[in-house]
Amino acid sequence: MTADIINANELHKIGPVFGHYSFDNHEQIVFCNDKDTGLKAIIGIHNTVLGPALGGTRMWNYASEWDALNDALRLSRGMTFKSAVAGLNLGGGKAVIIGDTLTQKTPELMKKFGEFVHSLSGKYITAEDVGMATSDMDTVRTVTPYVTGISESLGGSGNPSPVTAYGVYMGIKAAVKYKFGSDNLNGKVVYVQGIGNVGETVVKHLREEGAVVYITDIHQNRLEEVSAKYGAHIYRGDNLFAEEMDVYAPCALGATINDKTISVLKAKVIAGAANNQLENETKHGKMLQEKGIVYAPDFLINAGGIINVYAEIAKYDKAESLRRTENIYNTTLEILNNAEKDGITTHQAAFDVALARIAARKKETQS
Ligand SMILES: NC(=O)c1ccc[n+]([C@@H]2O[C@H](COP(=O)([O-])OP(=O)(O)OC[C@H]3O[C@@H](n4cnc5c(N)ncnc54)[C@H](O)[C@@H]3O)[C@@H](O)[C@H]2O)c1
Repeated sequence: MTADIINANELHKIGPVFGHYSFDNHEQIVFCNDKDTGLKAIIGIHNTVLGPALGGTRMWNYASEWDALNDALRLSRGMTFKSAVAGLNLGGGKAVIIGDTLTQKTPELMKKFGEFVHSLSGKYITAEDVGMATSDMDTVRTVTPYVTGISESLGGSGNPSPVTAYGVYMGIKAAVKYKFGSDNLNGKVVYVQGIGNVGETVVKHLREEGAVVYITDIHQNRLEEVSAKYGAHIYRGDNLFAEEMDVYAPCALGATINDKTISVLKAKVIAGAANNQLENETKHGKMLQEKGIVYAPDFLINAGGIINVYAEIAKYDKAESLRRTENIYNTTLEILNNAEKDGITTHQAAFDVALARIAARKKETQS
């Protein structure tokens, strides 16, 4: 259960699916093809012990099918543990559509994709991910009920990003409490990398509490806008990892915690929204532990979005979504304390909670 990211160019050297490096006892992998619409998609269903496999659909112009399959395998597995640790009755799944969103995403293609989702009779439930908009989920909804993240006007839960951001903020507070003895962020120096849908709202929460916030992004206009709106500093240096800071909050890309960055990293806490922050879960989790840097596991603190879409299945309202998301604070503190007690990495401690929950449910249903 510790598949890591490897160079996609190497993937063909191993078994195509069951022997794939990122294959981790996935229950089902579905390859979808439709000549008329040009749809080429892969649905990964990792584990359904806790419930239907829920996870977003990503549309990306993958360099190869190996990359697409690798993403479907890795991301669906990640969803299993994210939902399990968040206490949701959901399994892990994810879909990828191979193609360019600008030139290849059409309503016909999305409907055809929805028909493939429907053919799985609810074992996989889709949602929005990179390259998808709420309106795409609304299109999918015209052919199948097995979709979440649809518009509020259609009875859905709408954009999950503000809820994700709230959970990340809770995770930051819990990790700061663990490291410094108080969760008060007033005066704490926080670097937020990536101020997109989630990052911007994280900045808002941090500034409301008086944190000193530095922001980075590849879009200069976004930086000016967010800086002016919340009074955040635009970081103008060339290596943020080497800066003195209390918290590093990655809210853009994965794998920013690696050999190179850890060697210069001055942050005392890492807590952010990005998926797969550790380039290598085992190795880099251990390196952070040795350096005394508190890492709030990504899949634990960025679960607000899945908690929000789960409302559409479990039929709870926005207030309940926020209450459950707020609980990320307690779970994070518990996991950080457990990791210390057991002498393991925080990533492993979160992972163990998820695995234990899945094992207990399996035992329950078998007896
Ligand atoms: N949206 C959600 O509800 C949600 C839920 C769970 C996890 N996540 C993860 O959180 C992260 C952010 O999600 P989002 O929805 O805000 O995405 P987004 O695309 O809206 O924002 C990402 C931002 O990062 C910036 N960026 C890209 N490369 C960068 C770089 N090298 N340095 C600095 N900034 C860079 C982009 O310009 C963009 O502004 C992603 O990793 C996503 O997978 C999001």
